[in-house]
Amino acid sequence: MTKPTILVLGATGKVGAKTAQILAQSGDVKVVAGVRSPQKAIGLQTSGIEVRHLDLDFQATLAPALTGIDRALLLTGYTVDMLKQSKAFLDTAKHMGVEHIVHIGASGAPTNEVAHWGWHQLIEKYIEALGFSFAHLRPEAFMENILSFGWLNRSVLTNYIANARWSWVSCDDVAVIAAETLLHPQQHQGQIYPLGYDAATIPEIAALLTEIIGRSFQVDNRSPEEFLETILKAGGDPAYIQCVYQQLKLNIANAIPQADTTFNNFELITGRKPTTWRSLIQQQHSSFAY
Ligand SMILES: NC(=O)c1ccc[n+]([C@@H]2O[C@H](COP(=O)([O-])OP(=O)(O)OC[C@H]3O[C@@H](n4cnc5c(N)ncnc54)[C@H](OP(=O)(O)O)[C@@H]3O)[C@@H](O)[C@H]2O)c1
Repeated sequence: MTKPTILVLGATGKVGAKTAQILAQSGDVKVVAGVRSPQKAIGLQTSGIEVRHLDLDFQATLAPALTGIDRALLLTGYTVDMLKQSKAFLDTAKHMGVEHIVHIGASGAPTNEVAHWGWHQLIEKYIEALGFSFAHLRPEAFMENILSFGWLNRSVLTNYIANARWSWVSCDDVAVIAAETLLHPQQHQGQIYPLGYDAATIPEIAALLTEIIGRSFQVDNRSPEEFLETILKAGGDPAYIQCVYQQLKLNIANAIPQADTTFNNFELITGRKPTTWRSLIQQQHSSFAY
C-alpha cells in the first residue's frame, strides 16, 4: 500500500517545522514541505522530507507543489494576506484532489472585536464549504512568543497586557496535535480543537522565571500604543498588527470573555500532559538563562 502524502506549510517556522518532523518520524506517511525559501529548508531534507517550492503569493507555485498530495497543513504568516493566500491554496488543493485539511487558526474566544481571529474562522468556513475532510485547530497565545517576538530581553520581560491573564500553548504542543490530526484524519474529521493549556499573566511568568532560573526577572510595563509603534517600525503588517493592538486593549479592559480558558483535549488526544509554563522553562532552561 502506498503511504499517504502530507504537505506541510510553514515548515521553516515554529509550528510547521515541528509538525513536519513528527510526521516524518512516524514513518507512516510521506512528508512534503511547501516552502518559499528552500535555502532555509536544508535541515528538512536531511530528515527525509521532500522540499517543494511553494509561495502562497505566487499562484503558479501552488499546483506543482500540491501534485500527489492527500492531506495538508494550512498555516499562514502574520499578515492580512492570509485571506487571499488561504483561498488560493484551498481552491488549488481542491482542484488537485487533496482530501483532508488541518488549519492552524487562532483563538475562538467569543468576541467579534478581534478581526484576525474572525479571518481565521472565515477560512475554516471556506474549508468546510469546499467539502474537505478537516480538523480546525485554534491555538491560544504561543508560549514561544516571549522568545521569538523579543519580549524577553535577558532579565526583563516586556508586558503589553497589564494584569490580563492569557491562555497559552507551546508551539510543540500545537505541532503534536497538528501531526495527530494529519496522521489520523478519520478520528478527527470535523473537529474544532481549541489549544490552550496554561493560564498566566506576564508578571506570573516573570515570577516563575525568577524561581526556576534563579535570578530576578523584572516586568517592563508598556502600553498597546507602544506595541503598535514598535511592531510597525519593525515592519509588521499594519492591517494584522492593528488587530493585535485591538486585542491587547480589549484584554486590558477585561473585555474578551474566556481569554484565560484552558482545555483538557491534549491529554484526551495524545494520552500525555500538555506543556505548562513551568515545564517549558525547565525544558528550555538555557534559552531563558542566557
Ligand atoms: N503567535 C501566536 O501567539 C499565535 C497564536 C495563535 C495562532 N497563531 C497562528 O500561527 C500562525 C503562525 O505560526 P508560526 O508562529 O509557527 O509561524 P512562523 O514561525 O512565523 O513561520 C511562518 C511560516 O510561514 C511561512 N510563510 C510565510 N509567508 C509565506 C508565503 N507567502 N508562502 C509560503 N510560506 C510562507 C514562513 O516561511 P519563511 O520562513 O520563508 O518566512 C514560515 O515558514 C499564524 O497563522 C498565526 O495566526 C499564532
